Amino acid sequence: MCLSFLTVALLCRSLVTSALLFPKDLSPINTADLSGTLSCPWFRGLISDNDTAKLGLDFQRMLKLNHTLFIAARDHVYVFDLRRQTKDALSPDRHLTWKSQDMQNCAMRGKLQDECYNYIKVLVPKNDDTLIACGTNSFNPVCRTYKISTLEQEGEELNGQARCPFDAKQTNVALLADGNLYSATVADFQASDAVVYRSLGEKSPVLRTVKYDSKWLREPHFLHAVEFGHYVYFFLREISMEYTTLGRVIFSRVARVCKNDMGGSPRVLEKYWTSFLKARLNCSMPGDSFFYFDVLQAVTNIVQVNNRPAVIGVFTTQANSITGSGVCVFYMDDIEKVFNGRFKEQKTTESAWTPIPEDKVPKPRPGSCAGSGKAAAYKTSSEFPDEMLTFIKSFPLLDEAVPSIMEKPWFTRANSRYKLTQLAADTAAGPYGNYTILFLGSEDGKVLKVLAKTDENSTMETLLLEEINVYNPIKCSLKSEDRKVLGLELDKARHALFIAFSSCMIHIPLSRCDTYGSCKRNCFASRDPYCVWLKSGVCTHYSADLGTGFEQDTEQLKHLGNCQDIVTATGNHNSAGDSAYGSKVYLCCYKKGLNAAGGKHFWMSK
Ligand SMILES: *[C@@H]1O[C@H](CO)[C@@H](O)[C@H](O)[C@H]1NC(C)=O
Ligand SMILES: *[C@@H]1O[C@H](CO)[C@@H](O)[C@H](O)[C@H]1NC(C)=O
Ligand SMILES: *[C@@H]1O[C@H](CO)[C@@H](O)[C@H](O)[C@H]1NC(C)=O
Ligand SMILES: *[C@@H]1O[C@H](CO)[C@@H](O)[C@H](O)[C@H]1NC(C)=O
Ligand SMILES: *[C@@H]1O[C@H](CO)[C@@H](O)[C@H](O)[C@H]1NC(C)=O
Repeated sequence: MCLSFLTVALLCRSLVTSALLFPKDLSPINTADLSGTLSCPWFRGLISDNDTAKLGLDFQRMLKLNHTLFIAARDHVYVFDLRRQTKDALSPDRHLTWKSQDMQNCAMRGKLQDECYNYIKVLVPKNDDTLIACGTNSFNPVCRTYKISTLEQEGEELNGQARCPFDAKQTNVALLADGNLYSATVADFQASDAVVYRSLGEKSPVLRTVKYDSKWLREPHFLHAVEFGHYVYFFLREISMEYTTLGRVIFSRVARVCKNDMGGSPRVLEKYWTSFLKARLNCSMPGDSFFYFDVLQAVTNIVQVNNRPAVIGVFTTQANSITGSGVCVFYMDDIEKVFNGRFKEQKTTESAWTPIPEDKVPKPRPGSCAGSGKAAAYKTSSEFPDEMLTFIKSFPLLDEAVPSIMEKPWFTRANSRYKLTQLAADTAAGPYGNYTILFLGSEDGKVLKVLAKTDENSTMETLLLEEINVYNPIKCSLKSEDRKVLGLELDKARHALFIAFSSCMIHIPLSRCDTYGSCKRNCFASRDPYCVWLKSGVCTHYSADLGTGFEQDTEQLKHLGNCQDIVTATGNHNSAGDSAYGSKVYLCCYKKGLNAAGGKHFWMSK
């Protein structure tokens, strides 16, 4: 990358101005330090496996199906029945070992020994009984089908190319919709052929994005895929095409394809998508000079925000800028609006990108799904006119960026050297299911728990309820870069959050109400919608079996008096916090770990 002096000067000026406009970070109401305690249940992989003992778990991804959690890692998939009581450690009920037979060959092709394992990077349910798993298999990706109940392999192995990357360091997403596997990754050894791919369908042809065409994809990192309506959406970041003057700038995108796409005609786009469109996601701070969070890190599934389908994403700033993170929410109908708007073009390789006038857009509208909307007259995409197909081949990018709700981030963080990298959202938190709680994972092993409020009348408010230091080097220490949170998964039925690091998994309760002790004011002052006050005089986490015998008031703190001798979770009361019976020890245990379904005690630990 080579920036001219002038651009550097301009960039610096705009960064200085932006820094001044940046809002102050919220301070956490409570902090919790779990890093020094051994009481959170954790899992580090099969101890009996020599490679795991040497290299660590190497977490790749998590999949929760009802009461079962699957963890895909290097050479193994671990299966946890979440209903089973576990005490001090998380232990899998079953596991499957799938090692590469080709490690020698791989090393000969110039790869490091450590890269030559089978990193399992795709894990998607195929139906109620089976799932599809794909692994890098020593740079020779392969897919298999496994029975969910027994982990027995079913049928033949399949080539994993375009479904799973060759190199474990590459990102990928996969989703099964209508019997088709949608995958997005890089499809070659050199990691240069980026692809959005559909395969395995009985009624649909295999389709992909146009090869080596940077208008379609340019060094993308795929982060998530969701099925919604007629479409499958992909969330990614890539090197922008439209802002080349500042060098390599990363933009975040949402891309979309029609589920009923059958590919183009024998003349144009045969075997390629006819419906691939993409748009920029605009997560920016308002102010005199806009400040963009352009680097998407993670996105939720579709959730309801203000009773509208939406996705929530965590974004960071460009690598060469000040470190900042922002959480933005996008309504699905705002995404639709942009996909129905103007297309973008660059007239000559030197000129700026501009919107394409409506009269230059062929009919039916490029990007439409056959049989519906503007393309209702066409039975299948292979009948689309050449003109329409030629257009979409050259102009998949939409002009406008998708605005986030309220056109500003819901939560930002700038005064930390560490970025936020993951999120999980509970949009039905609290006894009445009317609060939204975001759990945000950071590069330095923390989880931020944020109460996020919004309503249709343009208010947006957040409180940082807890900052929890989760990473425990004693449990997870194999590599020093391990502190980064790589995955978050909620298990609301058991009031737990699973946190994945490269070499270990930890789970913690969603709240630490017990630490507010027998002080009603502290219980409510935590502002934690998971915490309720019982008539018996304790603060505890809400569960359905409490019936109506509880109180909660997180909105305003009435005159509830003072509670002197109470241990808070902030660690300010050092005498109590440091003692063996202080708050730290309680953080991972349930005093009254009642489970709504069985009434059993769950995950009690000392
Ligand atoms: C694991 O390592 C031990 C000690 O080095 C060795 O005896 C054992 O055979 C190894 N096991 C496997 C499966 O390679
Ligand atoms: C999960 O639960 C849903 C709804 O209760 C059910 O239809 C589905 O079969 C279950 N899936 C598995 C894998 O058990
Ligand atoms: C992003 O949103 C802001 C706030 O609405 C707007 O001013 C800005 O022009 C948008 N940026 C792009 C690229 O659309
Ligand atoms: C949630 O519902 C409860 C009970 O109806 C109500 O008291 C509380 O104010 C509601 N909170 C929000 C944020 O709507
Ligand atoms: C939004 O504003 C309208 C009109 O002022 C008001 O009636 C309504 O209660 C408000 N909704 C919320 C959730 O505050």
